[in-house]
Amino acid sequence: MKVISGTANVPLTTAIANVLDLPQTHVDIKRFRDQEIFVRINENVRGEDIFLVQPTSAPANDHLMELLIMIDALVRASAKRITAVVPYFGYARQDRKTGGRTPISAKLVANLISEAGAHRVLTMDLHAGQIQGFFDIPTDNLFSQPVFEADIHEKIPPKRHDNLLFVSPDTGGVVRTRSLAKQFNSDIAIVDKRRPVVGESEVMNIIGDVKGRDCILFDDIIDSGSTLCSASEALLNHGATSVSAYITHGVLSNPAVERITKSMLDEVVITDTIAQPDKVKSCEKIREASVATLLGKAIKRIANDESVSKLFE
Ligand code: R5P
Repeated sequence: MKVISGTANVPLTTAIANVLDLPQTHVDIKRFRDQEIFVRINENVRGEDIFLVQPTSAPANDHLMELLIMIDALVRASAKRITAVVPYFGYARQDRKTGGRTPISAKLVANLISEAGAHRVLTMDLHAGQIQGFFDIPTDNLFSQPVFEADIHEKIPPKRHDNLLFVSPDTGGVVRTRSLAKQFNSDIAIVDKRRPVVGESEVMNIIGDVKGRDCILFDDIIDSGSTLCSASEALLNHGATSVSAYITHGVLSNPAVERITKSMLDEVVITDTIAQPDKVKSCEKIREASVATLLGKAIKRIANDESVSKLFE
């Protein structure tokens, strides 16, 4: 069994390799002058069970292409089994035709990964569960929930748990929010959101009584920060005592960090599925909770042909 990293999130791969107590396989990844990608795996991988870690985060197209080229290199080097570990699966939000003559890019990207030669995919909090079915190879979709659950237990004293209210920032996130709320015997509220233009969200209504409650928004992605910041403002306007957020994938495109800094949010906790620039690391309102142990445990179970769903029972 070997762990290999693309360039998208080396710190996460290093943390996973530490959990597994394995060295990382050495690989050269270079760019030609015209930005074509060149890859050389620097050690023998013949007959090996390979776990290749590469989220397809920004720059999404470069990271995706690098993933495909690395898979091709591993296939041609006679690896026995290649698992594409894609902690953040970019393009996931393009999972249906949104109008005439538009693509379903999530399906196209899933096809590209299997056509390149991956035998399995390991990912986390897919934007919609059914995207798992876009892959024609076995795909394990992990949930960040246990990591967030542990973080809440660690950071929020038990006497305050009764006042927690878990909030889904849109109707699409209700199932995941209810599942987290259940662990704290809490209720949920739902934000009814509209998107007048891309990158801007508008709150229409709040379903549920948020007055006097410590609200925790739970979402899969924070991109421009518009959904999160407008939802937190609306919750406070409806009488919430405080608002914080747990979000799996910190896409954090501009101006998300500025929006969070200026917002009334107490804190935004993201995972390390996406490597963050210094600007995010130095933002006082953003904190990272690592999913490396969870991914490491899942990798171990896949390698040993054991159940992955057991991790969530
Ligand atoms: C949408 O359905 C997702 O779950 C997120 O709420 C959305 O991608 C966040 O985007 P933004 O931060 O740009 O509002």
